[in-house]
Amino acid sequence: MTQTLIRGGLVLTASEETRADVLIDGERIAAVAAPEVAEAWARGGARIIDATGCYVIPGGVDAHTHMEMPFGGTVASDGFETGTRAAAWGGTTTIIDFAAQKIGAGLRETLDDWHAKAEGQCAIDYAFHLIMADVNDRTLGEMPGLVDEGVTSFKLFMAYPGALYSDDGRILRAMQRCAATGALPMMHAENGIAIDVLVQQALAARRTDPRFHGSTRPALLEAEAVYRAIALARVAGAPLYVVHVSALEAVEELTRARDLGLNVFGETCPQYLFVGSDETARPGFEGAKYMCSTPLRPADHQGALWRGLRTNDLSVVSTDHCPFCFADQKESGRGDFSRIPDGLPGVEHRMDLLHQAVVDGHIGRRRWIELACATPARMFGLYPRKGALFPGSDADVVVYDPNETHELSAITHHVNVDYSVYEGCKVTGRARTVLSRGRVVVDEGVYTGAPGHGRYRRRDTCGYLL
Ligand code: URP
Ligand code: ZN
Ligand code: ZN
Repeated sequence: MTQTLIRGGLVLTASEETRADVLIDGERIAAVAAPEVAEAWARGGARIIDATGCYVIPGGVDAHTHMEMPFGGTVASDGFETGTRAAAWGGTTTIIDFAAQKIGAGLRETLDDWHAKAEGQCAIDYAFHLIMADVNDRTLGEMPGLVDEGVTSFKLFMAYPGALYSDDGRILRAMQRCAATGALPMMHAENGIAIDVLVQQALAARRTDPRFHGSTRPALLEAEAVYRAIALARVAGAPLYVVHVSALEAVEELTRARDLGLNVFGETCPQYLFVGSDETARPGFEGAKYMCSTPLRPADHQGALWRGLRTNDLSVVSTDHCPFCFADQKESGRGDFSRIPDGLPGVEHRMDLLHQAVVDGHIGRRRWIELACATPARMFGLYPRKGALFPGSDADVVVYDPNETHELSAITHHVNVDYSVYEGCKVTGRARTVLSRGRVVVDEGVYTGAPGHGRYRRRDTCGYLL
């Protein structure tokens, strides 16, 4: 078994920052020790990684990705191989991806399909949530079995009627089953029925450009759906995790619920924190690059998101990584924004963008680790195997240089997509060395990982209830 000693860095977790050395034995952390104690390991022949001037942090946990997901008439351009490699480059060492049920399919076969896509492909560890598109007696009956297999969260959609949408009755039934099994319901909270009316009206009035995607998905229809999802979860006796929150008014609904002491949690994503909806009005068809749902909002919503991240009314930052190439995938919606596949790339840059938020003074550095590593791991039943640096935790460790500056660009990124929503954005901080279960997968600008190293991780039930 290889022993590794990460020496000389500032060990930074969600709760502590301390000058210490990290000892790794095989795939696990053996100890976080004072340098004089660790010295014996160095003498014993452990491989040394010098972290002088760097942070030593738990690998990032991205709880919201869509690798190879069929969506909007096409398939997300990153598969598990390219997507997890890009994640590793950016210091993320675990993804939780969404296995997406098709109407008529069972949950079991859906999960089997996603295992087949991911098996042997991943550079880093992975787990699954399940998207329920077809809530019925049969699929409700399958939920407890999936929970036993480590799929302990189920995403429901209030948007996309005719595809992923569930009506309130179906949502309530799925939430009741979540409550009974200890699973966590996740909600895409937008009023899809009302949105579809606005979309049809916009198209009829020849408002077909990408920017009308946002104006037909107003903030109030996000907030209304968040409120309704909370009410349904209360009736079901279930907790609730609202994904990709983008609107100020939606954060207000979460705040109200949390002030009542409810087990309601919100996630936002870097695109909502760093990119405003002005980008969707770029000339020509360029705005399509910025199309996702919930949509990007005017930049004046960002203050409320940052505040929510500080007050914990927003508890997690994930990416909702769901990339589509501009040239041949987004293009299919030219002349009709409703046909543009919804989704943005992001899995590679989340850790750096959130570190930039530390540099900019939006959050502190332990909060960075809490939002990007510890809480997603805890929320989704992976803690303390992931998201922490305890003895016994998986040795998913990043040596992070907080002073290295670099520019984000489609020319240099590793995701399989032909543009970047962060093109030209300069950030301070970069993952220098990345270990996944003790194996160095990125080392000073060189990728040393391999498909198949990443393993499926069964998750426990939610470990973050109030
Ligand atoms: O635009 C998005 N968010 N695409 C991915 C699917 C989803 O709703 O998360
Ligand atoms: Zn969604
Ligand atoms: Zn998503």
